[in-house]
Amino acid sequence: MSDLDAHGFEGVARALRERRTVHDFGQALPPSDIISRAVELARWAPNHHRTEPWHFYLLDHATGLQIAALNADIVRENKGDKVAAIKLKRWTQMPGWMVVSCNTDDDEIRCREDYAACCCAVHNMALYLWEQGIGMKWTTGKVTRDRRFFDLVGMDYDKVYVVGLFWYGYPASIPTQHRKPVAEILTHVVSATT
Ligand SMILES: Cc1cc2nc3c(=O)[nH]c(=O)nc-3n(C[C@H](O)[C@H](O)[C@H](O)COP(=O)(O)O)c2cc1C
Repeated sequence: MSDLDAHGFEGVARALRERRTVHDFGQALPPSDIISRAVELARWAPNHHRTEPWHFYLLDHATGLQIAALNADIVRENKGDKVAAIKLKRWTQMPGWMVVSCNTDDDEIRCREDYAACCCAVHNMALYLWEQGIGMKWTTGKVTRDRRFFDLVGMDYDKVYVVGLFWYGYPASIPTQHRKPVAEILTHVVSATT
């Protein structure tokens, strides 16, 4: 392996470790060509039977605002006016909006594997964007299962489901996170017969 390759792989390791879910963004919208490149890279994710079950929807700000309003309506029903107003204010400040869908399938195993593939694709995208200084937040709130959400995005409610609604932009702050120690999550399985 050349020094360059070694450096490249360290870069991947660093992105894997240091990428964080970002909750607060600056107002600037990252260039759309960077987002297109992230989608181009996302599609190289592993997918069993090569189903390529994903679709990426890059939303304009007006659609984002409509989703923010729909979400506020849903929140208002369950949690009242005050919480709805807080959510509306927060959502309308999100710079970039994207939705990722997964194709539905009658076969339960296929469905599960397709969801796994979509999650791999999302992480490809997240890691590339992180390397570009762009953060993301993945959300799977109730609004993402509402038929009206599908209509706003232009998705067929009977043919796809939502993997996530993603906000993206330049991080205003980067949270810290912790993980369990490797020793707690890794078991070496050694055959009893050797
Ligand atoms: C399938 C999925 C759904 C998620 N939905 C939400 C969500 O609705 N709201 C939220 O704040 N974070 C959501 N997240 C982000 C996680 O909360 C986040 O990954 C976790 O806190 C670990 O932080 P990190 O990504 O910085 O390591 C979701 C992540 C995944 C994988």
